[in-house]
Amino acid sequence: MHLNTNLKTPCYIINYQELESNFNNLNIALEKYWNNYIIGYSYKTNSLPWIIDYFNKKGCFSEVVSNDEYELGKLLGIEKNKYIYNGPIKTKESFIEAAENGCYINIDSYRELEWATELRGDYKLGLRINFDIEKFCPNQSQCGIEGGRFGFCYENGELGKAIAFLKEKNVKIAGLHLHVSSKTRSIDIYKAIAIMIIKIIRKFELKLSYVDIGGGFFGGLSDKPQFSDYIKMVSEILSEEISPEKTTLIIEPGMSVIGTPVSYISSVIDVKDTTYNRFVITDGSRTNIDPLMKKNNYFHKYEYINKNKKKLKKQVICGYTCMENDRLYIEKNGLELEIGDKIIYEKVGAYTMCLTPLFIKYFPDVYVLEKNNNLVKVRQAWTSHQYIQNSIIGEKK
Ligand SMILES: Cc1ncc(COP(=O)(O)O)c(C=O)c1O
Repeated sequence: MHLNTNLKTPCYIINYQELESNFNNLNIALEKYWNNYIIGYSYKTNSLPWIIDYFNKKGCFSEVVSNDEYELGKLLGIEKNKYIYNGPIKTKESFIEAAENGCYINIDSYRELEWATELRGDYKLGLRINFDIEKFCPNQSQCGIEGGRFGFCYENGELGKAIAFLKEKNVKIAGLHLHVSSKTRSIDIYKAIAIMIIKIIRKFELKLSYVDIGGGFFGGLSDKPQFSDYIKMVSEILSEEISPEKTTLIIEPGMSVIGTPVSYISSVIDVKDTTYNRFVITDGSRTNIDPLMKKNNYFHKYEYINKNKKKLKKQVICGYTCMENDRLYIEKNGLELEIGDKIIYEKVGAYTMCLTPLFIKYFPDVYVLEKNNNLVKVRQAWTSHQYIQNSIIGEKK
């Protein structure tokens, strides 16, 4: 991709072919190893309407974790039975509505257990499982020895109580949900998930129509595990107890499908020297690609307006905000950046657009780079007009 010099920056660009490739690889793995599956695209990872629509048109379900995300899906025309509803902040009204519409609902809290007892009939209700992933995979989970906070705990008996409660009230348990957020995204995490699933099925003698292993995979990176590696492992373990004939495998990918196809383009707008540093100021911001301010390196490349440059020992690449820590990285021994040069950050599609604050500048343009190299705008940058929508402003004097 060579960028048009007139491209207004900052902006995001979604590479259509890369997105297709990630999605196809995922499908191929599922077809091969568990040919009865549902892909629930994780809205929270990137809920840009164009992306939601893309996955919907591919036949995916919508994995939502709030009433707001559920309403967003409805606004975008998602069929009423094509949601997987997760998380602790569901509303009772949307819980009941989604269940009655035939959606998959993974119960995460005690209040939802109560709501479930108000439903009469055959619904796709599952339980989110909380288990000691650190025991299986030391130092790999996000929460370490403090443990995760979602679902019903297997080890301390709370899961047993939840199952007993539902059985007593004649509420059918159709599935189990075991998403784990890990630091490593390793295959071992999914091995542990699959082992836990069969352990729970055996212990509580469950007859399940689905098992949901959540998201958290790598995707689109040649030096990391591939979809086929994860699904093969899960399939081998699950096959000891369940089969695709009776049980649907649900997966909830986010990062693995939308992370790699998205780039963020910024331009150098100023260069200045201080006693200590050469600062390169850009019209992009760390808040747009690293909103949690945790990254210390980025996949990035340059497009220079002039390649005949000298090298500099140190250049500090900065963003547009007024925060001192809006410094993205230090370029060591690189070509001297000048006004108009572009810095392109790659693989920034996950937990970026959706976590970007409305701070100092509003949401930037988003384009899709089509197969024929055409750039099509799929979100117009926000202006103050969008910013003030829904505001109630005092009467003019
Ligand atoms: C329940 C659930 N499903 C799916 C995902 C998507 O995970 P990822 O974007 O890492 O694939 C998450 C992310 O936290 C999640 O909490």
